[in-house]
Amino acid sequence: MMKEVKEAFRFVWSCNMWTMCIWSIALVSSYLQLLRARIFDSKSTPTFGSTDLKNGSSRPICVITGATSGLGKATAFALAEKGFHLVLVGRSSQLLSETLKEIKSKHKDSQLKTFEVDMSCFESIFKFKNSLEQWLSDAELHPSIQLLVNNAGIMATSRRPTIEGYDRMIATNYIGPFCLTKLLLPLLKNSSVPSRVVNVTSFTHRYASLRKFDKGSVTGVQYSTLNEYPCGEAYEYSKLCLLLFSYELHRQLRFTDDSHHVSVIAADPGFAKTNIMHEFPSYVTSITFLVFKILGLLQSPDEGAEAFVDAALAPPEISGAYYFGGKGRTVESSQVSKDPKLAQQLWETSCDLFNELQLSSSQ
Ligand SMILES: NC(=O)c1ccc[n+]([C@@H]2O[C@H](COP(=O)([O-])OP(=O)(O)OC[C@H]3O[C@@H](n4cnc5c(N)ncnc54)[C@H](OP(=O)(O)O)[C@@H]3O)[C@@H](O)[C@H]2O)c1
Ligand SMILES: *[C@@H]1O[C@H](CO)[C@@H](O)[C@H](O)[C@H]1NC(C)=O
Ligand SMILES: *[C@@H]1O[C@H](CO)[C@@H](O)[C@H](O)[C@H]1NC(C)=O
Repeated sequence: MMKEVKEAFRFVWSCNMWTMCIWSIALVSSYLQLLRARIFDSKSTPTFGSTDLKNGSSRPICVITGATSGLGKATAFALAEKGFHLVLVGRSSQLLSETLKEIKSKHKDSQLKTFEVDMSCFESIFKFKNSLEQWLSDAELHPSIQLLVNNAGIMATSRRPTIEGYDRMIATNYIGPFCLTKLLLPLLKNSSVPSRVVNVTSFTHRYASLRKFDKGSVTGVQYSTLNEYPCGEAYEYSKLCLLLFSYELHRQLRFTDDSHHVSVIAADPGFAKTNIMHEFPSYVTSITFLVFKILGLLQSPDEGAEAFVDAALAPPEISGAYYFGGKGRTVESSQVSKDPKLAQQLWETSCDLFNELQLSSSQ
């Protein structure tokens, strides 16, 4: 017992866990925003829960990453019920077919397709884009998609470089979704009805202290020289990047080519009891869940996924918003996340990376 407590303590100390304690403050501040809005804002927030897409001639197609567990799975269930034709993306074929069976058994008339993709690997994402186009053509569907939910994400406690030599957490949480969005944008733009990208971010972005967006930080390569892996910091950073990007893409689509009706929305689930902390010692996980439960902030995956469903179903004219708390509610994200100069810097670095990856994969 003593040994385990010591072990947990050492882990907490080494892994930047203090950062994570501060996260709870960020979470509370998001909830305070909701409360303030409820008290001072008399207009009620719209909900979109009654949308039913099953009666249309063809169902909108939704690609959702990390659909085999937690929030992604809960979102897949909810969107299947709404009538989306779902493309489930995950890295384990077994989990994918289990998820498919579960959704089928609950929603008999659902339309589903699965693809095995490793979001931390560019080759795999690139292959997915080709398979997706092939599938659309084979199934005689229009070559377009209507919704992309960038949900897959990890919270890594150790350094495990990807094939490209990037930090695995940053690759999965940011570079992967960046590349996927870029590759699928032509399909989103080709949609005859307004389409959308939903990026799953997190309240933790509020405390990201690292504000550099050069190649070393965007790939996480700079962490390779540190003694301890700063897991809290790297997670925050990956979520801030995703958010800056959402806003930047929103700006670009808004001001440079508004003919395509692709909107961009960020969704933040709050804190939900999922597998996200599975790399942590079980002590740390149990204590964290307990503390959040006492604070009344621990949600089920279904509750957390409400913000995603709100984001997915919000009317087309809504873009650049930050959904949090379910019931169609939104909050403001941090000042830093809205800095257009930082976003521009990150965009350029990421595009360079993307081009590099694309070049090396075509050789
Ligand atoms: N839970 C929270 O409180 C919370 C709070 C804020 C934000 N979020 C965000 O919400 C998202 C979903 O997290 P969750 O809590 O639902 O966690 P989760 O239960 O661990 O689910 C993560 C999903 O992502 C998939 N995934 C992980 N690495 C992948 C890769 N390289 N390629 C493809 N798929 C991969 C996982 O697949 P496997 O099943 O094969 O591992 C799983 O389906 C994440 O972006 C997370 O950062 C969560
Ligand atoms: C967009 O759709 C049209 C058919 O409506 C198709 O001919 C074209 O190839 C599609 N473009 C892309 C990028 O898939
Ligand atoms: C989502 O995030 C990715 C970066 O991970 C970015 O490329 C994309 O522009 C964002 N999309 C939207 C619509 O927010």
